[in-house]
Amino acid sequence: MSVVTCEQVTKTYQMGKTSLQALRGVSLEIEPGEFLCLAGPSGSGKTTLLNLIGCLDKPSSGQIAVENKSTEKLSAFQLAQLRRHRIGFIFQTFNLIPVLTAYENVEMPLVLRRIDAAERERKVMQMLEALGIRELHKHRPDELSGGQQQRVAIARALVTEPAIVLADEPTANLDSETGLAIMELMHALNRERGTTFVFSSHDPKVMERATRVVRLKDGLIVNGVKS
Ligand SMILES: Nc1ncnc2c1ncn2[C@@H]1O[C@H](COP(=O)(O)OP(=O)(O)O)[C@@H](O)[C@H]1O
Ligand SMILES: [Mg+2]
Repeated sequence: MSVVTCEQVTKTYQMGKTSLQALRGVSLEIEPGEFLCLAGPSGSGKTTLLNLIGCLDKPSSGQIAVENKSTEKLSAFQLAQLRRHRIGFIFQTFNLIPVLTAYENVEMPLVLRRIDAAERERKVMQMLEALGIRELHKHRPDELSGGQQQRVAIARALVTEPAIVLADEPTANLDSETGLAIMELMHALNRERGTTFVFSSHDPKVMERATRVVRLKDGLIVNGVKS
């Protein structure tokens, strides 16, 4: 069973009278446990595809299924449930809530899922421990380095034990050494927990870590095999 299936997915952005076809027929199957890199130059459609897989946006045509559920058949509420329960997001700019501590940022998705306080504390501290930032749990984002903030963001994405984690250029705002450490960490979590990761990058050093590289160019897949 695939975690994600995309069939002939297109996405056209309409801007007034002009339209831009960001994806022009993408078909892709992502298997459980993959550590998959969406590669391609800026503007090739990586963010658009991640947003569609993550049900943040809808394709103009074609089909996307997450865990064999066809997303076009789901209501707005069902899509929100799917995002909340099965998908974790990691963003290029971390997107932590500035007024909350590291602990509270990681706890947030568990609060939304109405997990009780004792269980939340156990899960949050376990994730912070796994990411090596337990001692930073009381710090707010502005008291953390970029690498530490991205670790908090990874903890937040993983704390709900999602089936799939989507990461849009997760290392682009980090220096290369910190970026590679973050990749190592994500890969270790992928191996240990079996969580499927799909991340985008145009950095060859980051692509090297992937178990499969899917290359996009002008909204089309140009190869799907690691070379
Ligand atoms: N919200 C939007 N409105 C209009 N055009 C967009 C929007 N988002 C992306 N695009 C365009 O779609 C194309 C693909 O963008 P994107 O998916 O962001 O590529 P990448 O992440 O690979 O840089 C680009 O030409 C971009 O300018
Ligand atoms: Mg992008």
